Amino acid sequence: MIKEFIKNKKYGYLVDNTWVYTENYKEVFSPIDDSLVGKLPLMNTKQIDECIESSYNAFLKWRDTSKNYRVNILYKVSDIIKEEKEDLTLLITEEVGKSYKEASDEVVRTADIITFYATEAQRILGEVLYSESFPGFGKEKMAITQKVPLGIVVSIPPFNYPLNETIPKIIGAIVTGNTTILKAPNQGGITCMVIGEIFRKAGLDNGVLNIVSGDNDIAGDYLLQSKKINALNFTGSTKTAVHIQKVLSQRNTVLPTILLGLGGKDASIVLPDADLNLAAEQIAIGAFSFSGQRCTAIKRVLIDNTIADEFIDKLKEVIKKKFILGDPRNKENTIGPVINDITVNYLHTLKEDALKKGAQLVVSGEDNGRYIYPIVLDHITEDMRLAWEEPFSPILPIIRVNNINEAITIANKSEYGLQSSIFTKNIDDAFYIASQLDVGNVQINGKDSRGPDNFPFNGTKSSGIGNIQGAKYLIDSLTRIKTTVLNFKNHE
Ligand code: G3H
Repeated sequence: MIKEFIKNKKYGYLVDNTWVYTENYKEVFSPIDDSLVGKLPLMNTKQIDECIESSYNAFLKWRDTSKNYRVNILYKVSDIIKEEKEDLTLLITEEVGKSYKEASDEVVRTADIITFYATEAQRILGEVLYSESFPGFGKEKMAITQKVPLGIVVSIPPFNYPLNETIPKIIGAIVTGNTTILKAPNQGGITCMVIGEIFRKAGLDNGVLNIVSGDNDIAGDYLLQSKKINALNFTGSTKTAVHIQKVLSQRNTVLPTILLGLGGKDASIVLPDADLNLAAEQIAIGAFSFSGQRCTAIKRVLIDNTIADEFIDKLKEVIKKKFILGDPRNKENTIGPVINDITVNYLHTLKEDALKKGAQLVVSGEDNGRYIYPIVLDHITEDMRLAWEEPFSPILPIIRVNNINEAITIANKSEYGLQSSIFTKNIDDAFYIASQLDVGNVQINGKDSRGPDNFPFNGTKSSGIGNIQGAKYLIDSLTRIKTTVLNFKNHE
């Protein structure tokens, strides 16, 4: 199915289950070799309005469909994804440069997420409350609460998991009776179009999933300014989120429900008693898988000075063993190119700033355009930009500290608060540090990670707002509680 769908490399926008082609297009090139992956439609405001209208009309019907009906469509989507695993893997690799293994894992994980959401959706329950519990009341009132959909949810996924970040946004919205307008990212957008075709093939009702694309001021800002939008589920950079919040505040109405999954500067804290083999292995994978282009990538190591040298030796070995840089279509290569030249330039700016201020380069390798081997810099200090900024690329700063409290202070000084990890054998220290870290998730003796996908996923400070993933939690985020009160005459 996918082979046929992508063969012309020209995509329309999706409205009412129909692909509509536009006059103008935006080309998407592969980070692997700059070859054309496809052309995404550049939509105008009239076409965006058409999608909003379709989503609104679909919502009026979709909210009344049974959960069983919706869940069955989800199972079909999961089946198609499993059947099309190889072609989806190849597409993700081509479009975002992810290694074959990582792309293939992304496909499997996504098929599993869908069936998990289908099961979780069956557990959406309400409550019964009695007035007699509140002072001054008897048995005269009974409240029934139900979780009902919000309306139209705008879903905006990032480039780095074009399948796996996009699908939970769609299914989290539609399984609870919302409709969604998916805004395809520029890179990763072709995979989003394929997702649209998969839902079409699975028999999803017209207008429940519409897909828009194009320039950010139209497919993003104009869309979000519509008063008909009830919720936004966005994953991407903090900078874009700040822009989106300004756009939303210009709407002449109250804000929609907002879920934001943003950047991070995840600190991995390594204490003197840590299992250094485990720490080196987990930190290497945590920092460099998909070239560090993950919000949960480990982006700082805060290590006790007394064990730093030993740790770095072990880290070097693990990196050497685990990472082979090259064309990600070759199954032997474990990291490919970073997404674009902006990322390359930013990495070099941060690296040069650190070196100029006295950092030491302890790991580096081939550095050829977008193909960059993992880089580790030691003796990073607080005056260096790399201590605070998020490179979203394969570069890891090591900051040496003298004690636990210094590690906590530096970890919390960041503007971000996504995740942190702690490596120690002392459970008391681990829990003390975890209690002090201002982040959404703390990993003890393991790398930072969003999954498994039943766990909640959220950030503090500039890392986000609300639970944007974790089946139960996203379902809660995308519903509201509606209360119906029965008033009994004979109990007055
Ligand atoms: O880019 C942010 C992703 O949500 C990170 O997900 O922890 O599964 O790599 P991951």
